[in-house]
Amino acid sequence: MIENYDIELEMRKFISPEFVFGIDSRFKAANFCKKLGARKIFLATDSRILKTFWFVEILTSLQKIGLEYTIFSAISPNPRDFEVMAGSEIYKQEKCNLILAVGGGSVVDCAKGVGIVVSNLQHIRNFEGVDMFTNPIPPMVCVPSTAGASSDVSQFAIINNFEGKYKMVLISKALVPDVSILDPLVLTTKDSYLTACNGMNALSHAIEAYVSSAASEFNNLHALEAIRLINNNFVQCLSDLNNLQFRAKMMLASLYAGLAFSNASLGCVHSMSHSLGGFLDLSHGECNAILLPHVVDFNFSSASYKYRKIAEVLNLNTLNSNDSEVKQKLINYLLNLKEKVNIKTSLKTKGVSSDLIPTLASNAINDPCNATNPRPPKRKDLETIFTQAM
Ligand SMILES: [Fe+2]
Repeated sequence: MIENYDIELEMRKFISPEFVFGIDSRFKAANFCKKLGARKIFLATDSRILKTFWFVEILTSLQKIGLEYTIFSAISPNPRDFEVMAGSEIYKQEKCNLILAVGGGSVVDCAKGVGIVVSNLQHIRNFEGVDMFTNPIPPMVCVPSTAGASSDVSQFAIINNFEGKYKMVLISKALVPDVSILDPLVLTTKDSYLTACNGMNALSHAIEAYVSSAASEFNNLHALEAIRLINNNFVQCLSDLNNLQFRAKMMLASLYAGLAFSNASLGCVHSMSHSLGGFLDLSHGECNAILLPHVVDFNFSSASYKYRKIAEVLNLNTLNSNDSEVKQKLINYLLNLKEKVNIKTSLKTKGVSSDLIPTLASNAINDPCNATNPRPPKRKDLETIFTQAM
């Protein structure tokens, strides 16, 4: 059969870790650690996860096969550089040789930071940027506890430079964990608001990866399927948080969106969200939910056929609509979705004042995520988007 569209002929690659998906897959974590040669495990997590029944089950499964571990749980949302350094000291003192990260994006990112520091023996701040370290991180297994961040399958780590009040973006193929174990059951201990923020993060990943200037056939496939799954299951999941089908479909969406953005990178939603999160310690998913419609407005003319495709996947009626009508339908969809999932905040209610906007835009313009935004932004453009999102 002859296809009726042209495919991308530019060279593209696709990187993914080994992953296991399914109910009760969390019990596989211990065996993967053993197979990867664990003598002593550096187990990164956070204080909330420590109390969950499924985390205790993971500990029991490690104990059953005689694996030693040390737990490091002093990790904040928007993980800080000094937390990475504290974790690295513990890793060295305890003579660990493998990382098991059990948690959301903050835990996984902090654990990746620890991996960089213990292998490269310098402060984490020296490794900001793309391919800035030479020695690979130790073997790493992840059990993600959220459906959104997808750091467990990505080449990214985001660490807050606490003194500089901005988020450092670290990107390297060497930051892709060895194994990710995606068990939808662990999501059932997440509350409604966190689930909403994570879902908006996953949707932002999928949309930004799909319109990215580094997009390829491989990640388009994953990005569009992630968007379809989110459209069909996100709101339903929030009204039935213990429903494993909805949870599994959102976890699958997050996985696909993660694979897409790990390979195609992101755009202005993320550069601006990193700036906000670093300066004001705001929730990443919440920032994305606020910024996404405004970035669509800014980008639309530079990738209109892609945004039209997104609108189609979202079942918006685009048949007889011109570009400007499709753009408005898409923006309205995103604004309505934000309301439906009960994210009612704006930048103003999050404490952003207009005098902060030049600083936020200056920090955002240095973020590597801008490089693949379909419309290359200038600092002034980011100021305008921030102002519109107030
Ligand atoms: Fe994100």
